[in-house]
Amino acid sequence: MFCLGDIIGWLPWGDETLKTIINFRIESVAGNHELLVSGTLTDNPEQIDRMQATAYTAGLLANKPDFLTFIEKLPLTIEESDFLVLHHNPFTLPKQNEKISIEHFSYFDESILDHYKSDWPNHPYRLIFSGHDHVPMLFELTSKGSVRKHPLPVLEERYEIKLNPSSKYWIKAGAVGGPYRDSIPSACSLLYDEENETLIFFRLEYDKEKIFRRLRNHRFFRNISTIQKYLRVLKR
Ligand SMILES: [Fe+2]
Repeated sequence: MFCLGDIIGWLPWGDETLKTIINFRIESVAGNHELLVSGTLTDNPEQIDRMQATAYTAGLLANKPDFLTFIEKLPLTIEESDFLVLHHNPFTLPKQNEKISIEHFSYFDESILDHYKSDWPNHPYRLIFSGHDHVPMLFELTSKGSVRKHPLPVLEERYEIKLNPSSKYWIKAGAVGGPYRDSIPSACSLLYDEENETLIFFRLEYDKEKIFRRLRNHRFFRNISTIQKYLRVLKR
């Protein structure tokens, strides 16, 4: 089981999510939010609301050295036999000795696929799993070098796709929390069934009313613009 990063960040319960990840011994990569809270990255000055969330979480964890040590030690990538796990774009990872910056975590735009079309066939891993963009997506690079996006049904609880053994895939898992980017408040996760060469995308229900109440009553977070968007999605 892997967590694709951003265990903490946009919601005010980073201590609870970290505790869960640590207690269940879930292997995780570092997301930009862990790197921001640990002080490894400095945010873009225009990201005021993200900086507010980072400052809050840094304060929340300030007297929890075990949690801070845990996030400082998270790797950028986890490499398995035929797949790579990372938070963001496998083609913009910092080079050896290059200092990591927030620029390495730009949001996903499909036009970047064209940009990396020539690098992708040489990428050592057949499957790449990433998070960051909150919205599940699946891209296939065929043996002939063409890239195609698979449409994923947004309202299905479970969606299974058979993989083509001669293709490579970039699999964006979506987000468990903060699902405001595609306006569908359900938690995304996925299962890779190695034996049957299938991917199963899940959209799981959670207690939306409870989250809405806790956020609306949170004196600091309810004023963060990104959280206000999330509250509107939950209310709808
Ligand atoms: Fe992220």
